[in-house]
Order: sequence, then C-alpha cells, then structure tokens
Amino acid sequence: MCGIVGYIGTKKACPILINGLIRLEYRGYDSAGISTIEKDGISVMKDKGRVKNLYNLKGIDDLEGSIGIAHTRWATHGKPSKENAHPHLDNSRTFSVVHNGIIENYNELKKFLSDNGYKFLSQTDTEIIPNLVHYYYSKDKKDSSSASIDKKDSSLSSTDKEDSSLKKGDCLRFLRAVKRACDDLKGSFAIEILCKDYPDNMIVVRKDSPLVIGKGDGENYIASDIPAILSFTKNFYFLNDLEFAVLSRDDIKFYDDNLQLIEKATKSIDWDASSSEKNGFDDFMLKEIYEQPNSIRETIGAKFSEDSDCEFDELNFSKDYLKGLDKIFIVACGTAMHAGLTGKNAFEKLCKIPTEVDVASEFRYRSPLVDDKSLCIFISQSGETADTIAALKLCKEKGAKTLAISNVIGSSITREADYSIYTHAGPEIAVASTKAYTSQVVLIVILAIYFAEILGLSSAEIVNLKRDILELPKKIEETLKCSEQVKEFAKRVYQEKDIFFLGRGVDEVVAKEGSLKLKEISYIHSESYPAGELKHGPIALIENGVTVVGIMTVPELVKKTVSNLQEVITRGAKTLVITNQDIDKSMFDMVIEIPNTNTFVSPVLSIIPLQLFSYYIAKEKGLDVDKPRNLAKSVTVE
Ligand code: M6R
Repeated sequence: MCGIVGYIGTKKACPILINGLIRLEYRGYDSAGISTIEKDGISVMKDKGRVKNLYNLKGIDDLEGSIGIAHTRWATHGKPSKENAHPHLDNSRTFSVVHNGIIENYNELKKFLSDNGYKFLSQTDTEIIPNLVHYYYSKDKKDSSSASIDKKDSSLSSTDKEDSSLKKGDCLRFLRAVKRACDDLKGSFAIEILCKDYPDNMIVVRKDSPLVIGKGDGENYIASDIPAILSFTKNFYFLNDLEFAVLSRDDIKFYDDNLQLIEKATKSIDWDASSSEKNGFDDFMLKEIYEQPNSIRETIGAKFSEDSDCEFDELNFSKDYLKGLDKIFIVACGTAMHAGLTGKNAFEKLCKIPTEVDVASEFRYRSPLVDDKSLCIFISQSGETADTIAALKLCKEKGAKTLAISNVIGSSITREADYSIYTHAGPEIAVASTKAYTSQVVLIVILAIYFAEILGLSSAEIVNLKRDILELPKKIEETLKCSEQVKEFAKRVYQEKDIFFLGRGVDEVVAKEGSLKLKEISYIHSESYPAGELKHGPIALIENGVTVVGIMTVPELVKKTVSNLQEVITRGAKTLVITNQDIDKSMFDMVIEIPNTNTFVSPVLSIIPLQLFSYYIAKEKGLDVDKPRNLAKSVTVE
C-alpha cells in the first residue's frame, strides 16, 4: 500500500525523503514523489515507476529545503501516472499533501470544490484534500478580517476562544484549516501537509491508516512504518485516530479532535536498524527465513521455562473469566489467519474452549454471534490491516474482550485492543510473511498453554509441549539444512502451471500456507486441500506430470495421507513430501525430512521447506521475490 515519509530538520530533506521511500518500497507502489519547501515556495517532483527514478528528475539535485514530505503510491483512484502520483497541490500552490487511505466521499467534495471554482489535475481522491484545506484557510482569513470589523461572526472565526490551547506563533490558521477539512472527510487517511506560509511547520493527522512520528535531535521524522526511519531514531510517537501533530524542528505539539493540546510520551523501539537491511542476503525474504531460529527465541523470550508456568506481563485473565467463555474467535487475514488456524487446534485441545477462525473481511460482514462471553483474538504482523482492525472494533462494540497479537509495537491494532501481546520477530520487510508466521504460531500456542494453566488443565502433554517449544530454535536450524535439496526440486518444477498441497490436521493448515506462499511470489496457480477431500472432487485435476506436495507430521494421520498420495502417484503426479515420520520414501520423487516435534508446533518446522520451495521457484523464474506484483505488505484499505 502507499507509503509516506516526512522530514523537518536542518539537513537537506530530499535525500532523507528518498532514502525513506526506498525503505518503504516493500509495501508495494507504482509511483513516487516528494515535495519540499524551497526559498521560492513549494516544490513538487514526482513520477510513475520506481523511487530511484526520482533521482533522474530535472532539478531534484537543486532542492535545498530542510522540510519535506514524500510518498509512494499504490493506485486506487486513477491509474498509475505522473499526474496521479503524490504529492498533490492546491490550485494556489499554498498546500502540498501526501495521503494514504481512501476518501470515500471524494466525489461529493470534488463537486463542492468545483462549484467553488477549484480545478483538478488528477483523478485521485487525494487532490481534494489540499484544495479543501485551501478553501477553509481562505475562508478563515476572510472571516477573521470581517471579525475584526464585526466581532459578531464566530462560526469559522480565528478568534482564539474555541482553541484556547493554541498560542500565537503556533500555525493556528493552518492547523484550523486542516482540522476543518478533516471534519469533512469520510474514509481512512494518514495525511502529511505542508503550507508555504509556514515554512517551519508540517502537520500530520491520521484516521484508520498507519503513521508514526520519529523524534530526533533538532529534527523530526514521519513514516508509514518504523523501519523506514529506524536508522535515524528509536523514539516514536503514535497518533490515535483524529489526533493532529504539528512538527517543527525542535518540537512536536499534539492536539485532539477539538484542537486541545494533549501530551504524548515517546515509545522506544528496540529493533536494531540493521535488522531492516539485507545483511548479505540476496533478498529480505531469504534473510527472514534464515532469521527464524532467532525470531522464535525472541518470541518465546522469558515467558516460561521447562518447570515454570507461562506468564504474560501484559495479561491478567482470571480462571473465572476463562471458565465463563463460550467461545474464542480468532480473526485475521492471509498468513496471519493461517497462524490462527493452528491456534484453534491448541485452544480446543489444551483449553477445551470452542474456537472459530475467520477471515477478517468475511467476519466483519457476517453478523458473528459475539458477546461478552467471547474472547476475540486478532492476529496481524503489521497491526495495520484494515479489515482486521474493523473486525476488532466490531467485537468491542458487541461487548467482547479483545486481544491483539502483532509484531509492531504501537501499531493501530494494539492501540485498539484491550490486551496486546507481541511476536517480537523483528521487522519483516518481504511482502511474503515467513518469520512473522512462525512467531505467530509459537505465540498463540504459548497463549493456549497459559490459558490451560490458569484453567488448571496442566498435564504431562503440556510439560512435553513446553520442552518442545524451547527446542524449536535448534530444530529450525536443522530444518534449514534442507535448503539445497528443496532448491533442486524447485529447479525441476518451476515451469509448472499448477501445484497442489495436501495434508491432514495441522498439516492441512501448513498446506494452505505453503500454497499461499507459492502463489504470492512465484505466480504459479496452486490449491491446497485436506488430503481426505481429494476424492470428493479435486482428484479430477490430477494428471500426468502434475506436482503434488504432501505434508505429514501427525503420527495418527500419516498412513492416511500416504494412501492419498499413492492415489495421485497412480495418476502420474510428481510428489514432494515433507515429513518427520518413518515412512517408505521410495514411492515419492523427493522427501524432505524435518526434525520431530510436538504436533501443536510442527507447522513451525514443516513450513520452512515450503517457504524455501516458493522462494527458489520464484528465483528460478527470475521474479522479484520481495516485492511480488499487485501485492502490498500492509493492506490498509478494505
Ligand atoms: O499485517 P497482517 O499480518 O495483518 O497481514 C495479513 C496479510 O495481508 C498477510 O499475512 C499476507 O497474506 C502476506 N502477504 C502473506 O505472505
């Protein structure tokens, strides 16, 4: 999705902004642009295509301004083009705006502004914003000059009684115009805005769209997410919906929706800046796959030891509350939803609590039977996924307690939820989620153990499971040794049109995730099925030479999956098998053996060969692994 960056300080803004945009490239985009305040007014440079194209734009090297905003656009309204790229100016070139999100009532506002003489150069929803701000800015000016003649007018006057916390010298008129424009906007937005009359200030505001503010020394930064500015600062402010920040070089002031001054504290983020670099790997995806031993260590942290109960500092669930629950709902999208499916297995088996898992975009519109006897868990790596956040808000309205599982401290979902726990996987840059998935699986299983222990359901099974979780980092290291073998199989099948994934029990969940990974980055059509469903239809698709991947880690189900695979082999399929079971390997084309572990967490190991499989296929096809076509890392619109 779109990415935004902002800088105000004493250095040249342009290189800092472009550098920030490069770090946001992974989010997916089709055009890019920057805007700075120069001696002679606001400059805007933008173009279709990659961020690095900005360096070729005439005049870019002459930009001297030390305040600026920047954007990578992922087209929603209007095709990818220079005209539609951000930043957008108002007709008088007083305001420059970048925007993430969607303005739902832009047609209505465009008509209103057109009726008031404003012209539009792009097809975007965003272009109404600088013009609307300009409309209120000029109206305010007119109203205040008439107010000084006739003190009776108060509706839009700049007399300060309504904004008692705004002092002279604050960019009061600018702020008030932005606020009034925001009052008219329906939809989601993270907005950065410059005003040529206030060359030492920048205003930002957000609603349902991500934005972080980085505090520096004599300089401040804005970005859509933390990794973009992590090399400049580790201290961040997070805005809630409809809070405004006015940035100057040495100061940041925060205002609520009534323009009352509010206090905010910084949060320190302990991610290492180098964790957002490739560090010698060809791609972020490969690096992140190899980071999994460590990311899982971080996820486990000090939550338990072999002989101590699980503890979450952030949680305080009582036995009575958990006993009173009718149901747990787990809601998420994509890979995070697949992690949720492993959670269902754990909550039902270890805690005996019925659990439903839903795709957020469906859940929010299906009138779910949620009430105060439901615990609703939301999983999101980014913490900014629009559908997941909307589902969370819905559950709160229905009186349920909400718990967020995220990788990003301070992300929107964690600020909305009653409770938040973190995967601590470190920044995940590649669009295809790998280390975040395995961390989510581990964290949700630990959460299930924690609930089971509170409920007094500790058992030998749980003791063994805890030991197995603690051994996971070492076992992931062992699993990663399959890389060459997987690469060899990938070379054999990378030109296939369809690849099928089969499994039973938790292996079926891994089949889903393996299939998603393959689609995402290799563009090969792929389906996953519970192996037992094969005969109910999908087997009709199996023909000579088709590739089928089978996952077999559940001891009591392995024989059944073997016979399902025999059925596809009989029909000419090539087979890749991922297993930790003792099976007759001779019938399969390739068998990847992974370490044995507890079934509750076996997806953490069995997904690794499949992550590598999709990675090597995409590499064989010469594709951009980190930034697959049409996809965005963080899906901040519906
Ligand atoms: O940030 P989130 O975890 O909420 O993102 C959810 C999905 O968009 C995400 O998992 C997506 O499916 C990944 N690209 C999968 O690799």
